[in-house]
Amino acid sequence: MTAKIIDGKKVAQHVRSECKLLVDQMKKLGVSPGLAVIIVGDDPASKVYVANKVNACREVGLDSKVYTFPANATDQEIESEILRLNADPKVHGILVQLPLPAHLNAKKLIASISQDKDVDGFHLYNVGSLVAGTTLFPPCTPFGVQKLLEYENIPVAGQNVVVVGASNIVGKPMALMLMQQDATVCICHAKTRDLAQFTILADILVVAAGKPNLIVPQMVRRGAVVIDVGINRLPNGQLVGDVDFEGVKEKASYITPVPGGVGPMTVSMLVHNTVQSAIRQSGLQLEV
Ligand code: GUN
Repeated sequence: MTAKIIDGKKVAQHVRSECKLLVDQMKKLGVSPGLAVIIVGDDPASKVYVANKVNACREVGLDSKVYTFPANATDQEIESEILRLNADPKVHGILVQLPLPAHLNAKKLIASISQDKDVDGFHLYNVGSLVAGTTLFPPCTPFGVQKLLEYENIPVAGQNVVVVGASNIVGKPMALMLMQQDATVCICHAKTRDLAQFTILADILVVAAGKPNLIVPQMVRRGAVVIDVGINRLPNGQLVGDVDFEGVKEKASYITPVPGGVGPMTVSMLVHNTVQSAIRQSGLQLEV
């Protein structure tokens, strides 16, 4: 069996085109949705991510504004900008690009974002709502994985899902979202003994561990769906995921490539969350 390769770029584009239709309708009704992005310091990867977010906003007609702080900015300076943005009716989504310089209190800063504008879904209120199954803003990367599964009509209810990686941004919310859809979920992490005894049981295997070639064919059940959230830069400059793509694609039924799989979805889901936030805040009844 050779797996169907899930085209994340195509699905991400589909999500953006739906968002654009909604933004066009909102603009006709006098609402112009807007995203504010806060970036602190000069981390090159963060700059690339923020530029991608700004471009995606432009593509669908969302207003976006980047607030750049120097690496030595204080919690107070950033928090007062966040409070100003919370009160600005033209801003429907606010995010703080992570990681922040070590002297800053990321938890406190994220907690100062209005829960109604927390389009990253990182505010504790939204994390709690995710546990309760009522969140407004699912975190963008696991939300992107969910959309890919939906788009490919891959059933989740009753399936064995193994999530490798227990981060707050991907692994934990991913597990909660799939549990909410009645999957049987197991979370593995860096201290899991004999990872393969768990991964081999997966009907759907989601890998977000940040280790190239962590998942090799012997660890994958024939016909499994394999979603690779890893993004690793090899010493030769090549970008790879956490899965041995060439080997595993001969065993899986579906697989996501890196690049071009989950990556493009993250930014599209941010756009989606921002548009949904604007619809909610403006009280408009819109659908595509
Ligand atoms: N850094 C890495 N991923 C993310 C993300 O999804 N949102 C933010 N704000 N920062 C990140």
